Amino acid sequence: MPGITVKGWGIAVPDKVVTNDDLSVSLDTSDAWITERTGIRERRIGGTTSELATEAGRRAMDQAGLGAGDIDVVVLATTTPDALVPGTAATVQDALGIDGGAFDVNAACSGFVYGLVVSAGLAAIGSGRVLLIGADTLSRITDWDDRSVAILVGDGAGAVVIEPVEGPGDLLSWNIHADGSLRHLLKCDHGGYLYMDGKEIFRKAVRVVVDSAAEALADAGLTADDVDLLVPHQANLRIIQAACQRLGIPEERTSVVIDRYGNTSSASIPLALDDALQRGRITPGDRLLLTGFGGGMTWASAVLRWGG
Ligand code: COA
Repeated sequence: MPGITVKGWGIAVPDKVVTNDDLSVSLDTSDAWITERTGIRERRIGGTTSELATEAGRRAMDQAGLGAGDIDVVVLATTTPDALVPGTAATVQDALGIDGGAFDVNAACSGFVYGLVVSAGLAAIGSGRVLLIGADTLSRITDWDDRSVAILVGDGAGAVVIEPVEGPGDLLSWNIHADGSLRHLLKCDHGGYLYMDGKEIFRKAVRVVVDSAAEALADAGLTADDVDLLVPHQANLRIIQAACQRLGIPEERTSVVIDRYGNTSSASIPLALDDALQRGRITPGDRLLLTGFGGGMTWASAVLRWGG
């Protein structure tokens, strides 16, 4: 069975920047509190999930030098689809002029890693190239009068092209997990707003991220010292720091963008990946540890070798 490699990447974020001071005008909060407790300084707000996903997807295809005819499947990781029906991936497929399958994956903030695993599976059974996008507009399901959630969220999208290759390829290991008995911790009912039990999620998140990342490293036959860059889900800087410490990965080998984007759910890992690439922090052959967690609860990790 063929393996996969990542060929191109791209992101899209709304133009509108909302700072902590902006939020403090209408909420009983402050820049100092938000920065200290979460690491977030500002976030981007606006657009629809399909608009952001389409833009990120287009950039990833351009960057890979591929056109619509070169893509065979669109996999969109999102927990904020434009509508209940149809899946938002269909809108993106149409906007990009792609002739192929298109569907959404909803694993909340673990969506991008889940999507990576699904895409690799498709490629292995002969799907051809997959455009994998993580896109979310959490701002659309946020009660902007609820300071427990409003300070955390942002909108954005990131995409990669997944290409089948001969041999084992670059996905060195992966795992996906869920515990639905914890679904009450983070939820949004139809027509409602996002609710989260922040304290409990914080506690659980650190544990599951560390366990799942360690599992992925062991499955790849690697140790923390072999990780060139940790690319974690960006929910709270303190969660990332606690996970780094427990995994034995220094923060200098971690990509952090939460200060600029907040929690963008399925988009946070590709946004952090793109940022590291833009800064020249990733070179071919580097081993990246991707790890995410979110509502469900779900959690997932993968070790990806960059560029073969
Ligand atoms: N601004 C100012 N004060 C706030 C506040 C805000 N936005 N939100 C809560 N507070 C107050 C509380 O009322 C409390 O006051 P008190 O001590 O007088 O009772 C105090 O700040 C501490 O609140 P607490 O809830 O204990 O803060 P925390 O350190 O747990 O931080 C979160 C709250 C939400 C930032 C943190 O729990 C978190 O990030 N959890 C994980 C959330 C997450 O990852 N979600 C996404 C999963 S994908």
